[in-house]
Amino acid sequence: MSLGVTIAGTGSYLPEKILTNDDLSKFVDTSDEWIVTRTGIKERRIAAEGESTSHLGSKAAEKALEQSGITADELELIIVATITPDTLTPATACYVQQQLGAHKAVAFDISAACSGFLYAMKLAKRLIESGAFSNALIIGAEKLSAFVNWKDRTTCVLFGDGAGAAVLRASKEGEGRILATDIGTDGKQAHLLNIPGGGSACPITIDNADEGLATLAMLGKEVFKHAVIRMKNSANTVIERAGLQTEDISLVIPHQANLRIIDAIARRLDVPNDRVFVNLHKYGNTSAAAIAIALDEAHREGKIKRGDNIVMVAFGAGLTWAAAAIEW
Ligand code: UT7
Repeated sequence: MSLGVTIAGTGSYLPEKILTNDDLSKFVDTSDEWIVTRTGIKERRIAAEGESTSHLGSKAAEKALEQSGITADELELIIVATITPDTLTPATACYVQQQLGAHKAVAFDISAACSGFLYAMKLAKRLIESGAFSNALIIGAEKLSAFVNWKDRTTCVLFGDGAGAAVLRASKEGEGRILATDIGTDGKQAHLLNIPGGGSACPITIDNADEGLATLAMLGKEVFKHAVIRMKNSANTVIERAGLQTEDISLVIPHQANLRIIDAIARRLDVPNDRVFVNLHKYGNTSAAAIAIALDEAHREGKIKRGDNIVMVAFGAGLTWAAAAIEW
């Protein structure tokens, strides 16, 4: 009988350069007080020049592989979740494959914004269960600093760069497993959060190049409302599918976009704050990387132990949402 799919290793990587709220207030009309009060973010990381999304992802992946005991040579599948790919084509996963030397692995990207890492987890889990692959490396990696409008205070203060990764394989006797997953999409709300230019719908031309069309645009208040409802529902779905009660959950790892959203979800799920993982004060919103980084930090800080039940829940552009319940 199949024992399911387990997370054999996690890793994360954050660029060295720190951009604080005070740094931002020197070139955009904002303040540390506004950003902390409205979001909880204190600082974010910025990739170095020449450091692209694949580099961030590969560094996180190396740590996850090391912890998993699976070598790059043995990897069969690489999925990179990102909205800030190195190039429109080929996929960022192809560069990661090359950088890791994972020559046997099939590699492709998925674009599901902040929910991307959990979309990748569901996909990889199913592919391993089907017997198509025996292991998978899933990565959430973003270089959002390359796609924010540094003149728009309503968005540029929110985002940061970073990457997280996990290695999945079939579970062995006595190991934990992914208990339940949920993913969803509402394309009617696509206009609430997008990068309008740079794709086939609105190519960047000499005439529109200065309009900042290839940067993130967001109707924050609307997104906020959807985020709370969708994440609460998705978390509840996996809790129910896993046959768990709220009190069985030792840690909730929510998408790291806004502390007020996180608090609202914790209240609605009836989970006390000390069982909710938060690191957005250090990194801001790193989209697809956020949950992956948080999972790795929680794991390495000893906040997740063998046998614990954890719930991860995400929300992002699309609109998309996703959740996973895991027995560690
Ligand atoms: O990762 C994908 C999911 N993304 C999210 O979940 C983000 C969801 N949305 C949010 O987190 C919040 O809506 C924001 C943090 C983006 C904004 O917070 P808010 O409490 O909804 O503020 P607001 O947009 O209503 O703006 C309030 C005021 C406005 O001024 P007026 O019109 O009241 O005079 C803004 O112009 O704050 C102003 N403002 C700022 N002031 C200083 C907006 N951005 C800034 C800023 N610094 N950076």
